[in-house]
Amino acid sequence: MKAISLNLAHVHYVAVDEKTYFLKRHSHSTQLLPTECPHRGGPLHMGDVTQDGQSVICPWHDNAYKLCNLEKKSLPTVRVRNVISTVVGENNRCVPLLKLSRHVELSQ
Ligand code: FES
Repeated sequence: MKAISLNLAHVHYVAVDEKTYFLKRHSHSTQLLPTECPHRGGPLHMGDVTQDGQSVICPWHDNAYKLCNLEKKSLPTVRVRNVISTVVGENNRCVPLLKLSRHVELSQ
């Protein structure tokens, strides 16, 4: 495993191999949640949060997903002030991203 530290002012997304994660800030935590909707791969990072703040609504088919369920597929994180740290596998390629384009280029 290797630890990755990300400055929250400069990163909104992270690509780990072919998967991408977006930063979701709550009042009490910050998480790296998968951008891919479990239904058919819609862009969860573009979804609205429900009024109670407990779910994200996928923009493709309007299904709501509880954040506590999405957390199960999130990257483990620890936040200290403006830096969030996560761990990925030793052989995983991890790329911090400010924007998410349709095709993430991992070969840098
Ligand atoms: S792809 Fe997200 S609800 Fe269908």
